[in-house]
Amino acid sequence: MKEENQKKISGFSSMRKRDKIKWIAKNFFKDPDVVIKELSSYWHSNDDQQKILDGFSENTISNFPMPFGVAPNFLIDGKTYCVPMVTEESSVVAAASSAAKFWMDRGGIQTEIIDTVKLGQVHFFWYDDPAILLKHFDGAKEKMLENTSDIASNMVKRGGGITDIELLDFTDKKKNYYQLKASFQTCDSMGANFINTCLEEFAQSMTSYYQNISGKDDCIEIIMSILSNYTPECRVKAWVECPISALGEFKGSMTAEVFATRFNDAIEIAEIDQYRATTHNKGIYNGIDSVIIATGNDFRAIESCGHTYASENGYSSLSHCSIDNNTFKFWLDVPMAVGTVGGLTSLHPIAKRSLELLENPSAKELMSIVAATGLAQNFSAIRSLVTTGIQEGHMKMHLKNILRHLEATDREYESACLYFKDRVVSFGSVRDFLQKNRQSIS
Ligand code: MEV
Repeated sequence: MKEENQKKISGFSSMRKRDKIKWIAKNFFKDPDVVIKELSSYWHSNDDQQKILDGFSENTISNFPMPFGVAPNFLIDGKTYCVPMVTEESSVVAAASSAAKFWMDRGGIQTEIIDTVKLGQVHFFWYDDPAILLKHFDGAKEKMLENTSDIASNMVKRGGGITDIELLDFTDKKKNYYQLKASFQTCDSMGANFINTCLEEFAQSMTSYYQNISGKDDCIEIIMSILSNYTPECRVKAWVECPISALGEFKGSMTAEVFATRFNDAIEIAEIDQYRATTHNKGIYNGIDSVIIATGNDFRAIESCGHTYASENGYSSLSHCSIDNNTFKFWLDVPMAVGTVGGLTSLHPIAKRSLELLENPSAKELMSIVAATGLAQNFSAIRSLVTTGIQEGHMKMHLKNILRHLEATDREYESACLYFKDRVVSFGSVRDFLQKNRQSIS
């Protein structure tokens, strides 16, 4: 217990970064000096850059590097992109690149933006006669819009703003519970701050408006005002299609017809079974999240929204397939609230470079790029699953990682790749191979 008490600390957040690391190293690690050196080694060599990174979060002690890769050859709506991807999972970038190239030779990926409307809610309790709330809602709405006109003026100039405020009655689910559901267009920004500021103003304006009308201060109680990350209409569709014969031949001499049928079956299975759908959609988000992170967007928001959308009629696949008149069509229909200006997109040095690499797209264009990457990722995964199996590709990367861990030389790397071409890769088998090789040389 005495030892545990030493791990309690006050004033940690105001300590200098070096002292934070020292305290952590001393209290939580067996080799403090090594840890201090290692954590400090990931600081940015440029103090100004480090300050920018530190500004994103609290109690920062170092940086956490993740691989920043690119997937070239994405032909989306007739334009060629080299897509930036941040992921720690091996094979993801290779799989996206391979599918992008495959479809580039078959007309590329097409997309359509369904809408870009974003949503926010004010949750409140109404304690007076419900008829008063309903009868005066138009007046309350007018007041709310009037009081937010300054906040919204810049967004309106850019072509966006507040597009609607609805009053929803939830009293059948919870006593006295009502909701404002507000819609927004936030142009090229994610708009979270704009939406939340408007919502808090709505809450205040509505409260004083109704207090005046009913003559009672306690007629209304605001519970909370916050945007909803569920934006089912802020959505994009991405698809690929070609005659079945143009799909070509697949590994193991699988014909295009057999491949198309199996692929279609695999998608139907993900539509039917939620255990499979979860893994299937995870594969889609391997691609989506990588681009979302690389461009400084909020992957938690994008994912939670996508999974809610996938659950609308029981959790199911976000992608679909059809085979009609000898045409293979594969599409992804996914909600996607992103921004290309403001927030991290304009502050994070690499996010800025990612957007530059994409030639500074609008939010709509980024929706298309991200959805196309999710589609490509999914295509690659299903193609592997229904042809060679997923392990063939994964094992190559796994072998590479094990060899790196065992500090293999370039020469050893080459001979290991040859040896394990048709053998099962495991940590033990690779270690034994290297040991034998090294013994025979010495
Ligand atoms: C692995 O990260 C993703 C896959 O499991 C996706 C899938 O099964 O469709 C390969």
